Amino acid sequence: MTAEEKATALEEIAEKIKNCQKCRLHEQRTNTVPGAGNPDADVLFIGEGPGRDEDLQGEPFVGAAGKFLNQMLESIGWTRADVFIANVVKCRPPGNRDPEPKEVETCWDFLNQQVEIIKPKLIVTLGRHSMNRFLPGLRISSAHGNPVRRKDGRIFLPLYHPAAALYSPSQKEAHLADFAKIPAILKKITETSEPEKQPTQTKLI
Ligand code: URA
Repeated sequence: MTAEEKATALEEIAEKIKNCQKCRLHEQRTNTVPGAGNPDADVLFIGEGPGRDEDLQGEPFVGAAGKFLNQMLESIGWTRADVFIANVVKCRPPGNRDPEPKEVETCWDFLNQQVEIIKPKLIVTLGRHSMNRFLPGLRISSAHGNPVRRKDGRIFLPLYHPAAALYSPSQKEAHLADFAKIPAILKKITETSEPEKQPTQTKLI
C-alpha cells in the first residue's frame, strides 16, 4: 500500500470508529479517538485509552502524559508527525478507569486493522495494559526497554506509560533512557533481512 492508500484506509476505520456503538463506552464519549500521525510510520505507539483531554479533542495523548510523550520524541529528534499514535480502546473509559476486558475485546479489531494497514516495523506499547494485550504474561518491571520479537515476526518494545512519570518525576530519566533506545532498535530491525527467521519471544538486542 502507498502512504496515500494507507491514509485513506485509516480514515475509513476512523469513520467506523466514529459511528461505533458496540460497547457502552460510546454512551459517555464526547469524541472518538481513533489515533493520529503518519500513516506510513515505521513506529506505532499504542497507549491504553483516551483520557479527558483526548476525549474533548479527539486526539491521542494531548494531555499531561502527551506533553511528556512529545518531550521524549523530541529527545530522539522526532516529532509526532514521524510516528503513529493509537490506543487499545478508542473511547474514554469514564473517570479514567481501566477499560474492561469486554470493552478491549470489542475494540480490538479496530486496532488490529490499524496495525495491518500501517505495517509498522516496531510497535511501542505504552504501559502494562497495552503490553499485556500483545505480550501476555510479561511484567513491565522487567520487560520495559527490551525489544521482543513475537512468533508472528512482529517486534514490540514495551515502555512504561508516560503518565507514570507524572506521578513519580524521579522516573523521568528511566523513561528517557528507554526511549533513547528506539532509533538503534529500529536501525537493527531495518538491517535484519529475514526477521521471520529470528528466534521468537527473545530479546532482540
Ligand atoms: N493515556 C493513554 O493511554 N492514551 C491517551 O491517549 C492518553 C493518555
